[in-house]
Amino acid sequence: MALERDTNGTACIGGTPLESILTDAGAVTPAYVYDLDAIVAGARDVVRAAGGKHIVAYAVKANTAGSIVRAVAAEGMGADLVSGGELEVALACGVPVEKIFISGVAKTDAELDRSIAAGVRAIQAESVEEIDRIAARAAAQGRTANVSLRVNPAVMIDSHAHIATGHDKAKFGIAIADLDAAWWRVDANESVNAVGVSTHVGSMLADTDPYVASGTKVCEVAKARLAAGGALQFVDFGGGYGIDLGEGAVSTPADFVEASVALKNRHGLDALTLVVEPGRSIVGSHGMVVARVLQTKASGERRWAMIDAGMNDVLRPALYGARHRIESLAQAPCGKEWRVVGPVCESADDFGDFNLGETAPEMVVIRDTGAYGFSMASEYNGRALPAEIFVSGGRVVGYSPSPGASEWARRRLNA
Ligand code: LLP
Repeated sequence: MALERDTNGTACIGGTPLESILTDAGAVTPAYVYDLDAIVAGARDVVRAAGGKHIVAYAVKANTAGSIVRAVAAEGMGADLVSGGELEVALACGVPVEKIFISGVAKTDAELDRSIAAGVRAIQAESVEEIDRIAARAAAQGRTANVSLRVNPAVMIDSHAHIATGHDKAKFGIAIADLDAAWWRVDANESVNAVGVSTHVGSMLADTDPYVASGTKVCEVAKARLAAGGALQFVDFGGGYGIDLGEGAVSTPADFVEASVALKNRHGLDALTLVVEPGRSIVGSHGMVVARVLQTKASGERRWAMIDAGMNDVLRPALYGARHRIESLAQAPCGKEWRVVGPVCESADDFGDFNLGETAPEMVVIRDTGAYGFSMASEYNGRALPAEIFVSGGRVVGYSPSPGASEWARRRLNA
């Protein structure tokens, strides 16, 4: 885990106290801090577990920072992308086009055109109708687009409803019942080339069972296509590997990847490349937010600690009821329980109860926010986006400052 405590109990990354890291960067709170060494080590483990023919495509939506995308690309990872913005980041960070996958139920013409022109490994078609659209965009360029069919496996997972994507009421993917029509559209269009079958069952999976269940559907679809004389390059089982938020260990990314390799081979698909799309498990545990306690309040039984990070900076607790551990920078959890809330004018801006000590600490850390933290941050309540600091070898190696209040205001005044 990226967050450590030294012998005095001070919160550190790579042996350096978090507070010194903020001072060295010249950052003010709230600030995201990432441990690049831990991200690289985790990425290396997943790539190693995938063994032979594979592409581990990092789901860039989890964290789009160039420092992170460059680091995982250097470990041999590809990228799973959902927008033109993410595509530009991935290309500029050196992700090879043959390892790039474009997902999303509603891609713009510009996004399709850029993906086709760049020659990405596959545009993941999420509906029968989309196949004709991809074909038309490719034909207009005089090119052939590589597509994979993203299958909706009709598998329900035990996760928050907002992040379950593979059940039969979800907007994602092509229903099994519509696959014949999809292959027919693929075969009828000369400007598309079917290269794979994909899925993504949802996020924060605690164990591999639902992942293997949805991957099994992908293998069955791929086998049927091959038996019908079609050619395929890969099967793609998606992402969704959960992380430990302090409530009990979950299967490791290597467990998921090893189960994927076994599944593909069990179905006799050894000749195909295995594609997986982990996002959260690559970065989630290795990023955190450092915040300052701005105000305390004692009222009846409850002690409140109001911090300078809010739901605009860390949305997961408000949106999914997620519990991200908050700890004092100065000592491990102990003493009295404090209700930690942010400054945003919403009752949902509430992180929960945490043992922060007998007296309120000056500074706290919100743990496991490396994924879907900054990437889901907003400027609500006139709050500029937070700073991001990248650490390697215990030293600051990258810094992206917060625009700050005046710059935020300048931009809005021009609106
Ligand atoms: N592939 C596809 C097609 C996806 O839709 C996603 C995530 C992933 C891969 C990566 O999933 P991961 O390994 O990160 O779980 N904002 C939510 C998570 C939304 C995930 C959306 N799709 C959260 O904070 O929990």
